[in-house]
Amino acid sequence: MAETIVMGKKMNFEAQDRRGTYTTKLDDAIKKFGTDDLLPLWVADMDLASPVCVQDAMKKRAQHPLYGYTVYPKRYYTAIRKWMEKRFDWKIKTNWVVPCYGVVPSMNFAIEAFTKKGDGILIQTPIYPPFASSVKHRKRKLLDNTLVYNNGKYEIDLEDFETKVKEAKLFLLCSPHNREF
Ligand SMILES: Cc1ncc(COP(=O)(O)O)c(C=O)c1O
Repeated sequence: MAETIVMGKKMNFEAQDRRGTYTTKLDDAIKKFGTDDLLPLWVADMDLASPVCVQDAMKKRAQHPLYGYTVYPKRYYTAIRKWMEKRFDWKIKTNWVVPCYGVVPSMNFAIEAFTKKGDGILIQTPIYPPFASSVKHRKRKLLDNTLVYNNGKYEIDLEDFETKVKEAKLFLLCSPHNREF
């Protein structure tokens, strides 16, 4: 394997094939799309190996045979705060961090927390499908600031955004953005 050192950590940038290990994007493609002869770009699932230090930490944890409930140590929050500051120049407080298992459940919790049934929620399509389905399942009104395809790039229609955001109680920003094919 071709390993490279990035920020002091071992990485392998060779694409891996996860076929046959119950992958959503590959092993479910025939059921979803009727063929597996495609590039499944609808889902943000990488073909690159996790950094070696992450693999090692997972292996170390798995060696203990009890996989019970766990607490979040202080260094978990410190790592998130440091990442936010280093990467986004954003100082956050520990009590702003609410651990949650995945973006989609978090999005549903945010919709419940910040809006009521019938409230408008703005998204920008084309987008990862659960953005729209979460809004619909929670019986909120879906507002769509459709992105404009221009010279091979998607752009925000800012005029439309300004109009629709006035009706919205919540804006769900997908960043980085990916689209449904
Ligand atoms: C844009 C985007 N957001 C979120 C998710 C899902 O995130 P999570 O891994 O937390 O379920 C995906 C998965 O494809 C995605 O494409």
